Amino acid sequence: MNGTEYKKFAIIGNPVGHSLSPAMHNAALAALDIPGEYLAIQTEDLAATLRELHDKKFCGASVTIPFKTAIIDLLDQVEPMARQIGAVNTLCFQKDEEGKVRCIGDNTDWLGAVRALEEQTELAGKQALVLGAGGAGRAVAFGLARAGAQVLLSNRGEEKGRLLAAQLNCPFVPAAKLDQVRAEILVNTTSVGMAPLEEDLPIAARLLPRFSFVMDIVYAPLNTLLLREAAACGCATIDGLRMLLHQGAAQFTLWTGQAAPLELMSAALQAALRQREAERALMPRI
Ligand code: ATR
Repeated sequence: MNGTEYKKFAIIGNPVGHSLSPAMHNAALAALDIPGEYLAIQTEDLAATLRELHDKKFCGASVTIPFKTAIIDLLDQVEPMARQIGAVNTLCFQKDEEGKVRCIGDNTDWLGAVRALEEQTELAGKQALVLGAGGAGRAVAFGLARAGAQVLLSNRGEEKGRLLAAQLNCPFVPAAKLDQVRAEILVNTTSVGMAPLEEDLPIAARLLPRFSFVMDIVYAPLNTLLLREAAACGCATIDGLRMLLHQGAAQFTLWTGQAAPLELMSAALQAALRQREAERALMPRI
C-alpha cells in the first residue's frame, strides 16, 4: 500500500447513527493529508459486513455495540489484550507474506482509559477503584492493572463482578462495603449518569472526597453528575470524551503508522458532541 492510495475505514455497529467516531477520524485523515474516508456502517449481519469490508479493501474498522464480543470468532487473529478483555474494538486488515489479506482484532479501549488517566497522574502503584464489570469495565480494569495500578473492583451484580475480579486477581468490593475503600483513583464504567440515568450517582457523594482523581467514561452528558460532585469535592476530573479520544488516537496510529493529531481530533469530537446535543434538543419529546 503506498502513501497516496485512497484508504477506507469504518465503524460497524447497530446503531451507529450518533457515533462521534467519523468526525474524529475524518478530521485526523484530513489534517495529515491522507486521502481516504471513515464511514458509519450500521448492520444486522456482522459476518456479511466483514466480508464486504474485505472485498472493498478497507484498511481498518472500529467495532461497537453490540458486536465487540461476537466478532472475535470471525477474525483471522486476535491480539492477546483483546483476547483477555474478551472484546475487540479495532480491526486491522493486513497482508501476510503470501499477499493474502488477514483481519486482525485488537482492543484500544483499555489504552484509551490508561492514557486519559495518565494525562493527570501516574498509575503505577496507585490504588484504583473501578465501578462496573461490563464490556467497558473489563477494558478499563485490565488496562489499569497492566499499567501497574492496584485495582479494586465493584459491580452491582456480584457474580459478574467477582468473576472479573478473580480474572484480574484483585479484590471485589460489594456495594455495601464501598465506604471501606481507600483509593486515589475512581473510574465509573457503569451506565449510571448516562441519559436517562443522568440524575443518578454510581457511588455515594459523601465518599468522593477521599479520591484525588475521578474519571467517568460516560460522555452523554459530558459533565456528569458524578464529575460535578467530584469537582465540588476538590477532585481532579476526567470526562468520557478523553477516553474516546485516546482509544481513537490509538486506532489511528495502528491503521496509518502515524502519530494521531490529538488536539485536532479532540476539537472535532467536542464539535460533533455539541451538534448531537443540539439535534437532540430539537427533537419533539413524547
Ligand atoms: P458496557 O459494555 O458499556 O460496559 P454493559 O456490558 O451492559 O455495558 O455493562 C453495564 C455496566 O453498568 C454493568 O457493570 C452494570 O452492572 P450489572 O453487571 O450489575 O448489570 C452497570 N449498571 C447498569 N445500570 C446500573 C445501575 N442502575 N446501577 C448500577 N450499575 C449499573
